[in-house]
Amino acid sequence: MVYLPSMQNRLHTPECKSTNTLADDLIRDRSFLIQKHGLYITTDFQTAGRGHGRNSWHSNRSCNLLMSLIINKPDIAPDLQFHLSRMVALALQQCVSIVLPKPHIVEIKWPNDLLVNHKKIAGILIENKIAGSRILQSIIGIGLNINEDQFPSSLTNATSFLMETGKAHAPDEIRWLLHECLQRSANDLITGFDKIHQLYDEHLYMKGVESRFTGQFGPISGTITGTTTEGLLVIKTSSEELKFGYKEVVYPGW
Ligand code: BTN
Repeated sequence: MVYLPSMQNRLHTPECKSTNTLADDLIRDRSFLIQKHGLYITTDFQTAGRGHGRNSWHSNRSCNLLMSLIINKPDIAPDLQFHLSRMVALALQQCVSIVLPKPHIVEIKWPNDLLVNHKKIAGILIENKIAGSRILQSIIGIGLNINEDQFPSSLTNATSFLMETGKAHAPDEIRWLLHECLQRSANDLITGFDKIHQLYDEHLYMKGVESRFTGQFGPISGTITGTTTEGLLVIKTSSEELKFGYKEVVYPGW
């Protein structure tokens, strides 16, 4: 089971470096309440918002949803931690599809970017505290672009609800909606990992589309067929099935 903190258990700060960093600091303080109930952290502005690797996360003040969830002892073995990623990506996929129904196309770009019509609307940064064969805490950072109307010129592939609809949306309402979707997605884990794996692969960006990717050792022509249990991306070429970890393959145009 994965127990989400309740929405009453929320710490909001007008500004911080990064909600993931704040979550990490709070875990180090070993607060009993956090260890028992987990925590929702939200902020209006991050001075050092973090993305994957060395990337930063851009968000103008009070425009978007910036949050980190601390989940205690999720019942998932460390080598299967990608299921947590799947759970969160699917919750975001549902949440964004409710706000932006068809003809918008909402897809998950492996490993865990959320795209609307091929542009990135949300990112997920999961940082797990692992001891031995257990995840003690999972910090799930989510950035969802809501009312951003212009991104820096370096972020050509970014979008927001406002840019897609021309209308402003209330970040607090979206937060509640996302919470419901996260709860639903966490419930899907109760019956095992198969359902969430299958749903995740169904929503994969560029699945089944013959494309030319860039691998570590050169170009790869092939078709994404899905992901492995551990979360590797599977690309089928004319001669073999290749599996890639994070940063080992780049999508065309990204
Ligand atoms: C990515 O796409 O590279 C992941 C982006 C994750 C951004 C969120 S915003 C809230 C939380 N705090 C951070 O510093 N990062 C995550």
